[in-house]
Amino acid sequence: MNPLKHVAIIMDGNGRWGLKYKNSRNAGHKAGLKTVEKIIKESIKQKIKYLTLYAFSTENWNRPKKEINFLFNLLENFLKDRIIDLHNKDIKLKIIGVKNFSTKLNKLLSSSEKKTSKNKKLHINLALNYGSKSELINAFKNLHKSKKKINEKNLSMYLQTNNIPDPDILIRTGNTKRLSNFLLWQIAYSEIFFEKKLWPEFNENDYLNIIKKFKQIKRNFGKI
Ligand code: FPP
Repeated sequence: MNPLKHVAIIMDGNGRWGLKYKNSRNAGHKAGLKTVEKIIKESIKQKIKYLTLYAFSTENWNRPKKEINFLFNLLENFLKDRIIDLHNKDIKLKIIGVKNFSTKLNKLLSSSEKKTSKNKKLHINLALNYGSKSELINAFKNLHKSKKKINEKNLSMYLQTNNIPDPDILIRTGNTKRLSNFLLWQIAYSEIFFEKKLWPEFNENDYLNIIKKFKQIKRNFGKI
């Protein structure tokens, strides 16, 4: 059976769910946060060490300002309410992406990262204002500056996921089959699961089914 250390998720479908059931895209984001909580809980149960969640891409700035503000308020309230509990549960939070939000949110993100930095049970990467191409360009620039040899190992050291094993599984909910500029380098050998359900409908059982399927896959990594 395959060992499972790292799950990455593109949490897609909040807007469609919200419109369908509550006539509001933002209601979908609120419901999506509940799924985030469920998946964190189940990841701990399954002894998964790393969970990377795509919450806001560099391209998401093109959404209406009202929706963007709603999302960041949701995040702010989530951290204010839940960071102590996450810390007590031995969860480490790291932001990947560029932290160029309001001063208030930047401070809250940094203090949440600092508070939980030594935790060991589950490491959550929250991708915010994240884009894989720009992460790669920065990594190449910094590697070039360092004068180190250009190879896979050295480049990986300059990615925001440095010191973390690459995702074993990538899940995308929302019935869409694309990667949306997410972890393009890191998912070179990940097993990819496209899930029809919208993110707010995705639950522990769906997650466990994917994990079960993953464990049975023969992973060759290019060998036979
Ligand atoms: C994609 O669905 C989802 C997002 C852009 C936001 C993800 C946010 C959450 C899951 C909740 C908030 C999380 C935190 C950590 C505060 P979409 O809006 O693109 O859905 P659509 O494809 O149906 O439009």
